[in-house]
Amino acid sequence: MANPSLLFAIFFAALLVQGGLSTTFTFKNNCAQTIWPGIQDNANSPAFPQTGFTLAASASNSITAPAHWSGRIWGRTGCSTNAGTFTCQTGDCGTGQVACNGHGGNPPASLLEFTLNGSNGKDTYDISLVDGFNLPVSITPQGVSGCQTTSCSANINAQCPTQLQVTESGTVVACKSACDAFHQPQYCCTGAYSSPKACQPSSYSKFFKTECPQAYSYAHDDTSSTFACPTGANYLVTFCP
Ligand SMILES: *[C@@H]1O[C@H](CO)[C@@H](O)[C@H](O)[C@H]1NC(C)=O
Repeated sequence: MANPSLLFAIFFAALLVQGGLSTTFTFKNNCAQTIWPGIQDNANSPAFPQTGFTLAASASNSITAPAHWSGRIWGRTGCSTNAGTFTCQTGDCGTGQVACNGHGGNPPASLLEFTLNGSNGKDTYDISLVDGFNLPVSITPQGVSGCQTTSCSANINAQCPTQLQVTESGTVVACKSACDAFHQPQYCCTGAYSSPKACQPSSYSKFFKTECPQAYSYAHDDTSSTFACPTGANYLVTFCP
């Protein structure tokens, strides 16, 4: 009944109402071993099309996020399936399968955090080591000029202080945050230390900041760790940049 050009117009009007341009995430694995990315949507975010997948060494995978998506991405390492149950040495999301189905990763894990077309009309993104480190990561905006890459390329596992190490068969596979290792309010920025003024960097957070100056090293490390880009960019997420 309706003519094709009218349907076409309605389709594009619906796209505009729904909130504009889509954003493509390209996941690239430059590590020597397989990585299993996990993705968790923030509360109130539309759903990312996948919550976990396998990314072989040298492989890449592109996925289109819905408008206004916000959430976190991390890489799981040392994963295997035993008696039908999938588990990982780092970043495990506890589902027993490759899909994380809404669950977050077990710390320590390097986190990549995104908010697409947020309240300021921009995309914001960061790398967070607030929940520790498991592998080097970077975020590179593509297709829009004037946007900055943020990268944490240091192999922090090799430098990790003994008290923070997570080991598997004698190898350091991840490095805990001081909050995760010691559960104290001054490291976690909780209780009397919840304000940005009260929660100051510790010797442990300074270690992470020295290794990866562009990444969050503790909860209130905002000034040097958040990045923004006009909505419409695509993002390259690299494991072991
Ligand atoms: C950002 O979101 C607003 C509100 O939904 C929307 O009108 C606008 O088109 C979006 N911008 C882009 C570039 O997608």
